[in-house]
Amino acid sequence: MAKINLNNVILRMSAGTVSQFPKDSLPHVAFSGRSNVGKSSLINKLLMRKGLARVSAAPGKTVTINFYDVDGKFYLVDLPGYGYAKRSAQERSGWSRIVDQYLSSSSFPDVVVQLIDARIGPTTDDNTMLSFLNETGIPYIVVATKTDKLNKTEFEKMFQALRTHPLIAKDAEIFPFSALKPEGAGDIRRKIFSVLNVN
Ligand code: GTP
Ligand code: MG
Repeated sequence: MAKINLNNVILRMSAGTVSQFPKDSLPHVAFSGRSNVGKSSLINKLLMRKGLARVSAAPGKTVTINFYDVDGKFYLVDLPGYGYAKRSAQERSGWSRIVDQYLSSSSFPDVVVQLIDARIGPTTDDNTMLSFLNETGIPYIVVATKTDKLNKTEFEKMFQALRTHPLIAKDAEIFPFSALKPEGAGDIRRKIFSVLNVN
């Protein structure tokens, strides 16, 4: 298959309802995690773009699902973050409705990138998502974000805690990542490409 052209990426749809989900059969990679964990920052690094996915200083604003069409080959799917305390009850139910609808739709993701804040560790909501992934059998990888906030000892402790976490499958790869450092995105990109069988 021809090489992926990362210059050919567009936001196909910022979907607030099921009817707006893309209807073609391209594979999907969905990014899941709590609000503010760094989903949009990771997507920008993977696509080598600065401002494509909006990085928010004010978290929790996105209750749309953003579908980035990557060179007409697959979608990177930026899910709205969960666990944002200051969201209203109405916004929260909007979140779970659209994410539930997406995850149970026929275009559910081929692989999920589950982000966990390295400094905070898995939250209750993260555990709920991990349980869901284990139950449905959707393949997933874990990305531990914001590793720049940890020193070496803290990092090793965190990594060990994730590796032995009962809800993280033994065969799920765990990637450390910091959006402030150049390294890290390459391994995650290669892993995604290999799962999707593109290059
Ligand atoms: P929502 O869209 O609200 O769900 O958030 P998100 O998960 O997309 O997080 P986003 O990428 O917008 O990042 C949230 C905040 O964390 C921003 O202020 C980022 O600059 C910061 N941030 C993201 N990644 C890193 C990282 O690796 N290290 C540090 N120190 N800060 C980061
Ligand atoms: Mg975001």
